[in-house]
Amino acid sequence: MSSIFTVPVSLAERSYEITIRAGLLERLGSELKHHAVKGKVAIVTDRRVARYYLKTVLETIKQHGIEPVPIILTPGERSKTLQTVETVLDVLARHRFERSSVLLALGGGVVGDIAGFAASIYQRGMPYIQVPTTLVAQVDSSVGGKTGVDHRLGKNLIGSFFQPRAVWVDPLVLQTLPAREWVAGLAEVIKYGIIADASFFSYLQRSMPDLLKQAPKVVAAVVKRSCEIKAEVVSADERESDRRRILNYGHTIGHALEALGGYRSLVHGEAVGIGLVQEADLACFQGWCSHEVVEAIRRTVKEAGLSERMPRWIPSKIWKAMLHDKKVSGGRVIGVWPSRIGEVRIAPLEKQVFDRWYGASQIP
Ligand SMILES: NC(=O)c1ccc[n+]([C@@H]2O[C@H](COP(=O)([O-])OP(=O)(O)OC[C@H]3O[C@@H](n4cnc5c(N)ncnc54)[C@H](O)[C@@H]3O)[C@@H](O)[C@H]2O)c1
Ligand SMILES: [Zn+2]
Repeated sequence: MSSIFTVPVSLAERSYEITIRAGLLERLGSELKHHAVKGKVAIVTDRRVARYYLKTVLETIKQHGIEPVPIILTPGERSKTLQTVETVLDVLARHRFERSSVLLALGGGVVGDIAGFAASIYQRGMPYIQVPTTLVAQVDSSVGGKTGVDHRLGKNLIGSFFQPRAVWVDPLVLQTLPAREWVAGLAEVIKYGIIADASFFSYLQRSMPDLLKQAPKVVAAVVKRSCEIKAEVVSADERESDRRRILNYGHTIGHALEALGGYRSLVHGEAVGIGLVQEADLACFQGWCSHEVVEAIRRTVKEAGLSERMPRWIPSKIWKAMLHDKKVSGGRVIGVWPSRIGEVRIAPLEKQVFDRWYGASQIP
């Protein structure tokens, strides 16, 4: 029998568990039964995930006497709009889903964010369960209850905090993930080592060849430890007042690069990979960490197959793009800076410092 790991997310009456189990997808029906789900269940997914997994999911659910109602979205970030949420709400209303019904979010972060947001507003909130199918979703977006969609004036501008009832992770589904998406997810995994756990970071360095080959045991261990760190941070600070901010390491520059590339040049994790290295370099420039720390991060990011350099097309607008991000307070950018592997500090970044660093670091 495959190993089962559970990770608690402790949030008083909103607490839930992350279950990690190879082959879990084929057992969805019995898991739902176990959670006393009856009647109908809505399954929000995207076309690509549906092609691989919907048949299996529909079968197991029907076998347990539950009626699945699939809602299949167009894959990709462009779907993350209010309009898509409306489509989901339409189906829920037409099928007369009730506040006690359950919605499953089967897919990557895009599906999870849309489905979670729809669940948070349908009849003022219906229970939902995250069944994440990308590495990013399994280690990051499915945990923590941030839901939402993009607005033409900004990414993730509209949303809510709404915790799922459970997160069900089947690492086996990662086998069909395109290589680019897999590698992008590794940026978030490396981030966890840097912000919270030096021995996990060393483990990642040692295991990188196996991780890149997706050795099942290593994948399960990495997903588990990443979920534990995210769960611990979220449990300490559900609404991102302070502690949760450490999760933004690599994302100040990362988000700016993503935006400047029109959300097409770089996928999120690729931008974060560059952010991890460049923000460490910025920390070092300010005397907050050693060169060794920067080099360890640089090596690990490169070994994961991610780029660590600022793209050539980066215009001088990068500071403006960083200011645009929501981690801004009083015209300053609040950054997360490594002091050593496993430990970060939160501190504002002044434009003059950034300009000096940027000028010095961009000389070829
Ligand atoms: N809510 C949060 O806390 C949080 C955290 C991080 C990221 N996010 C959001 O998550 C989104 C990115 O998520 P993502 O990286 O998972 O992208 P995604 O959901 O767009 O998925 C990437 C691609 O992989 C496909 N796919 C998914 N699972 C697959 C599988 N098992 N096999 C084959 N193909 C599969 C999808 O169809 C899609 O084409 C962004 O919108 C980001 O804002 C949210
Ligand atoms: Zn991220």
